[in-house]
Amino acid sequence: MKLLVLGSGGREHALVWKLAQSPLVTRMFVAPGNAGTAGERLAANGAPVENVAIGAEDIPALVAWAHEHMPDFTVVGPDGALGAGVVDAFQAEGFKIWGPNRRAAQFEASKVFSQDFMLRHGIPTAKSGTFRDPVAAKRFCAKLEGRCAVKADGLALGKGVLLATSLAEAERAVDEILVSKAFGTAGASIVVQELLEGMEISLHALCDGKTAKLFPTSQDHKRALDGDQGLNTGGMGTYSPAPFLSDTELAEVGRQILYPWLAGCAADGIEFRGLLYPGVMLTKSGPKVIEFNARFGDPETQVYLPRLENDLVELLLASTEGTLDRVELKWSANACVCVVAASGGYPGNYGKGQVIHGLEAAAALTSVKVFHAGTARKDGQIVTNGGRVLGVTAWAPTLQRARDQAYAAMGQVCFEGMHFRHDIAAKALR
Ligand code: AMP
Ligand code: GLY
Repeated sequence: MKLLVLGSGGREHALVWKLAQSPLVTRMFVAPGNAGTAGERLAANGAPVENVAIGAEDIPALVAWAHEHMPDFTVVGPDGALGAGVVDAFQAEGFKIWGPNRRAAQFEASKVFSQDFMLRHGIPTAKSGTFRDPVAAKRFCAKLEGRCAVKADGLALGKGVLLATSLAEAERAVDEILVSKAFGTAGASIVVQELLEGMEISLHALCDGKTAKLFPTSQDHKRALDGDQGLNTGGMGTYSPAPFLSDTELAEVGRQILYPWLAGCAADGIEFRGLLYPGVMLTKSGPKVIEFNARFGDPETQVYLPRLENDLVELLLASTEGTLDRVELKWSANACVCVVAASGGYPGNYGKGQVIHGLEAAAALTSVKVFHAGTARKDGQIVTNGGRVLGVTAWAPTLQRARDQAYAAMGQVCFEGMHFRHDIAAKALR
């Protein structure tokens, strides 16, 4: 089977690495991929994975490429491509593709859509309101005594959420999005949520339109610096499982969120065939959904896929074809930890083109995989090409050992300006 994967981040390298292990795959392309994806080989025949120089959101070029190369199955990584309607475009041309269509991808592409859906269908979430008018929004912020999250409706590269703990801060956030248009048209409307307190975890569920299969727990570290200080990032590291819920509690949380979500999708005629990723706060009054994403998490994927024992191609086909009810997800008992190495300056401005050293030494360690994110090959060397550069990942029977191994591997790699958090998974070991 000929596979096409869309995207170029750490999530996509992890997807490619896992998909390449499937005996079903005889050829694999990644658009546009990174230096890591191009270094993978297929288990079935040893063929190298091939990068294709087309952006994941360049739908006309992707469709033209598909007509020329006829992939049997396409897997979409990033939210931008989903929001742009790549699934609908491929389906319209008769290509089989995994991921939610544009309507279903609204769970991530529109926070207003998501919040209204949760209220309408009784999904536990924060007290909230949706607004276009700054005066009405500020009145609501005042009701929350300024302790709120102010969120641009649309996709804003993960930067569209402003947290406030005073009314002055909240009003400034409302003005920034609705009046100054800091996020352009993505901020034509906003969601204001009460500020939730508790432990934040990531849930993932693979869906086929009728059935949702819950993954184990994981936890991201969104702030740039140790101790959850500094600016918000795309995610500086993850681990799985997160020990804040027992298996029974996780199943119960899953029921509280996924049952009404599936019923709501059926009632509204939404066919979600893809990965639902709810960000959840475990509050004193129970779990509450902060937001929905409509794709695999990055870097959650990097800790889930080394633990997944199923053939990922089979799972994604079942998700596409509506046969997930016949599949059982199998997870290894290992814990897995991923630490992200970022470029100097990230999440602010950063340079590119720094040579990365030590990748081979890190790869030589057992139960370690260095996933590439922002990397490229230049003059025979691997260089930095983005903010998040590597996801250094390790697995072991205990979380402590997985963490020690991940940091040992991190000790092998370096590039000018590299920084990473030293406390990934520390909350779980406390
Ligand atoms: P989001 O893009 O919606 O995930 O928001 C980014 C981050 O802001 C989340 O990962 C949370 O850490 C934080 N956040 C968002 N909404 C809330 C909320 N209602 N209460 C507390 N923290 C929040
Ligand atoms: N882990 C954060 C994200 O994928 O949005």
